[in-house]
Amino acid sequence: MKNNGLAFVLVTTVAIAIVGAGLSVFFSRFINLSGTFGDTAPMSASNALPQAAPLQEPTTAITYSPPSPQDAPPSIKEAVLLGYNLLMETGKYAPDNVGNKLSCTNCHFKGGITQGGKNGGLSLVGVGATYPQYRKRQDYAVDLVTRTNDCFKRSMNGRPLPEESKEMTAIVTYYQWISKGLPVYAEIPWLGTQPLQSTHVPDKTKGEQLYGAKCSACHGKNGEGTAAAPPLWGDDSFNDGAGMHKPVNMSAFAHLNMPLGNPDLTVEDALDVADFVASQPRPHFSAK
Ligand code: HEC
Ligand code: HEC
Repeated sequence: MKNNGLAFVLVTTVAIAIVGAGLSVFFSRFINLSGTFGDTAPMSASNALPQAAPLQEPTTAITYSPPSPQDAPPSIKEAVLLGYNLLMETGKYAPDNVGNKLSCTNCHFKGGITQGGKNGGLSLVGVGATYPQYRKRQDYAVDLVTRTNDCFKRSMNGRPLPEESKEMTAIVTYYQWISKGLPVYAEIPWLGTQPLQSTHVPDKTKGEQLYGAKCSACHGKNGEGTAAAPPLWGDDSFNDGAGMHKPVNMSAFAHLNMPLGNPDLTVEDALDVADFVASQPRPHFSAK
């Protein structure tokens, strides 16, 4: 209890400081605008615009230390754990919204609690601090509800979760919790995929051979998946609107993560195999 009281005072103090700083920036912009649109009198020293103090650059590097879902405080613990379960076993917890045999964790390894990089899949640690974010697809800022439903509609070949559903709230609460401590709009190096840099022209035939040699044992001869790995194409996989369908994303993902546990594809191999996988049949995305 004592600790809670202290934490509350601290949080409140920090919140007041942040709001204060935000307000001063906001009002300086406001004054700036009224200066632009206001009377035409030339500016004198007396109505010179106050300058907002430059924002302080963070002095310490961003460190990766996501808290465990189990450690969430009681008031949000149920939501955080449901969010985690939804990412780990998506079809079980949201059966009406999943149209394939994938779970989020098949691409966002360990439910997204990784530092990206080799064997890390697509991290989600920090998304709570980096959204809303501009996306080309919508040509506007999108929040985590919209971004998550993009993966439901495309990567999961399913239907969007209702925005106010318990499940969507749980997923967003989970993101916030695993992003704890990361400054808002920090540059987080482990998020997203980095396209492979190469002038190599992908070779589908070589990609098919590589698939047989390095992928089919786990993902199945026809990309249908096995007990060891999820489907890569066909009816039970992501649809052709998914990010992973684009060779630029799959090649970067495969280069860092596949074969699972021992990723050893060269950049050229990764581009070839991604080109082959992208040429195989899969469900078609239609904006319903
Ligand atoms: C087939 C692989 C795949 C599956 C399955 C998948 N995603 Fe994604 N997801 C991606 C790719 C690819 C991106 C884009 C990464 C990038 O920005 O480079 C992405 C991005 C995201 C982002 C934004 C991350 C960022 O860094 O901005 C969120 C949030 C997200 N996915 C949530 C989910 C959730 C929740 C599920 C399950 C309902 C899910 N995804 C299932 C492939 C997948
Ligand atoms: C040792 C078994 C194994 C091999 C070999 C393997 N994968 Fe995977 N792959 C997996 C597993 C398991 C997952 C899901 C990981 C998870 O859920 O944590 C996965 C996930 C994926 C995904 C994202 C999920 C999906 O099904 O779309 C892609 C893409 C992928 N692998 C591509 C490849 C490619 C390309 C190769 C060959 C170069 C390959 N994999 C070789 C085990 C393997």
